[in-house]
Amino acid sequence: MLTGKRVLLVISGGIAAFKALDLIRRLRAEGCTVRCVMTAAAGEFVTPLSVAALSAQPVYQDIFSLKDESEMGHIQLSREADLVVVAPATANIIAKMAAGIADDLASTTLLATDKPILIAPAMNVRMWHHAATQRNIDTLRGDGVRIVGPARGELADGESGEGRLVEPADLVTAIAAALSEIGGTTPRALTGRRALVTSGPTHEPIDPVRYIANRSSGRQGHAIAAALARLGAETILVSGPTDLPDPPGVTVRAVENARAMLAACEAALPVDVAVCAAAVADWRVAAETETKIKKSGAPPQLTLIENPDILATLSRHPDHRPALVVGFAAETDAVAQNAAAKRVRKGCDWIVANSVAAGATFGADDNTVSIIDAAGQEDWPRLSKAEVADRLAVRIANSLGRPS
Ligand code: CTP
Repeated sequence: MLTGKRVLLVISGGIAAFKALDLIRRLRAEGCTVRCVMTAAAGEFVTPLSVAALSAQPVYQDIFSLKDESEMGHIQLSREADLVVVAPATANIIAKMAAGIADDLASTTLLATDKPILIAPAMNVRMWHHAATQRNIDTLRGDGVRIVGPARGELADGESGEGRLVEPADLVTAIAAALSEIGGTTPRALTGRRALVTSGPTHEPIDPVRYIANRSSGRQGHAIAAALARLGAETILVSGPTDLPDPPGVTVRAVENARAMLAACEAALPVDVAVCAAAVADWRVAAETETKIKKSGAPPQLTLIENPDILATLSRHPDHRPALVVGFAAETDAVAQNAAAKRVRKGCDWIVANSVAAGATFGADDNTVSIIDAAGQEDWPRLSKAEVADRLAVRIANSLGRPS
């Protein structure tokens, strides 16, 4: 996917620096050349030796090192890349970039570069929300720097909130999107098409503080939205609550529950393709209370009623049935059989079947899926969720053909 592309990766010093190793591995597996610059603080979290070994390139750290400068000066370093990526990007390096400070090799390289820059912030939640950081982020955005994340979740310091480095698999997707925008080399086979994707879990309220939910992370659905947008589709992502950053180039409609998800999907019609990857709760509580249920007396009896089926509704839509409707089937047993039956029952064109036995898939990086359509079953090898998304987007583009 990234064959022949060159990324200059600046690793700054945060606890998430260890994830840069996985990022390097993934980028290289996609055919990308990765050259790394580390700040002094990054060297406290990961060793330059590991970075050099994984990137199979020398690592550059010191602006005053004769060796580094004679091998490759900072100006050349900053120019010999298609994209400069800062991951993790600490509050400190973000502040330096915003102010144009150049006091070490990393910041000097970032100031000297004439190449597009993508940063993946990672820091404590309070540092992220600090007015200074938000001001700096606005400045960088205004300077044309692409920003991915941070994600929401548990942080290394025990707090939780926005501040996590986005997962390496998602970073690869963002890097691929940035490279394809820059190069304009990827054929954008879905230009002129509209796509709708559902993703994530739904939260079905019991009372103002409690809800019923499931283990979906939303990663597969978000990756599909990103992949469709990369191919040029005008993409609307209707997402239940997730910790994921908005995929680049995608319009995101955030919803809480199944009914809101259906309403947002219907509002997005007409579309050429709908991909329902959300793990929609099948049931909701019949009578949501407006006040918190107290613990007095016997435990409450919750009566459940069925939620609307979004996939089936879109598949049988009387006015705006998309030309192609794709559903997912998360099954624990008889995966292919159940999925094939589900395709017919829901009225969709394809089902992407995967096994969720023993916790596989939910929250994981990889996915092993089969595509079931009217012609039969196609088994795909174990792939990253980003790869599943890319392949699915290409299959969708081939099926839709050129817009008339
Ligand atoms: N789906 C939906 N709306 C629902 C339930 C499911 O759009 N209310 C979609 C999912 O997004 C997925 C497909 O239907 O694309 C199958 O979801 P799954 O949970 O596997 O199937 P269910 O319909 O819930 O069937 P069962 O739980 O009986 O396997």
